[in-house]
Amino acid sequence: MKPFIVAIDGPAASGKGTLARRVAIHYGMPHLDTGLTYRAVAKALLDKGLPLDDEPIAADEALHLDLRTMDKNILSAHAIGEAASKVAVMPAVRRALVEAQRNFARALPASVLDGRDIGTVVFPDAQAKLYVFASPEVRAKRRYDEIIGKGGAADYAEILADLKKRDERDTTRTDSPLKPANDAHLIDTSEMSIEAAFLAAKKLIDHALAQH
Ligand code: DC
Repeated sequence: MKPFIVAIDGPAASGKGTLARRVAIHYGMPHLDTGLTYRAVAKALLDKGLPLDDEPIAADEALHLDLRTMDKNILSAHAIGEAASKVAVMPAVRRALVEAQRNFARALPASVLDGRDIGTVVFPDAQAKLYVFASPEVRAKRRYDEIIGKGGAADYAEILADLKKRDERDTTRTDSPLKPANDAHLIDTSEMSIEAAFLAAKKLIDHALAQH
């Protein structure tokens, strides 16, 4: 039987990661945060003092990436997200990582993948596609609260400017830009709780599972 795929896309801090984890736990499906694959390549380049914009060098890192060694705690740093967004514009890097992401899902009966291009490029025939978004201001406030909540220091204006810059890079790149798939179910989390977003997702996924 064809693997069942839940594709969750959306911009940074939209709530897609939280939703993906919630969905994965509820259905007992393995989850791949594909942002981590781009982050892992960026981190490897930074650690080795290599440039972030040399396509053959970055693609070589991408080809040798082992998904099992990715550590979310180490890769979640803000600077790595920025670097990942730069690495992610290069087609050869995307080809290698998309291949690894497809292999992950094809080896499983069902899985949840979240990222920027899952419903459009990685699995355009995914059975359930969600596009999660929120206004830049709401997303920046979430990031701000998260950092302050952990006892850190944050500047709201700076976070908002960074998010807009990242959105710009992710939506305007030529290869696989961030955009909702035509058949994606849109979830605006600007004024929605995680629970409400989960219920909307669950309705769609239950329907798709019944038809699978
Ligand atoms: O979701 P995230 O913040 O961890 O993603 C980091 C960067 O990786 C993001 O700014 C763009 C890139 N990315 C991508 O191009 N395609 C994906 N499927 C996931 C992430």
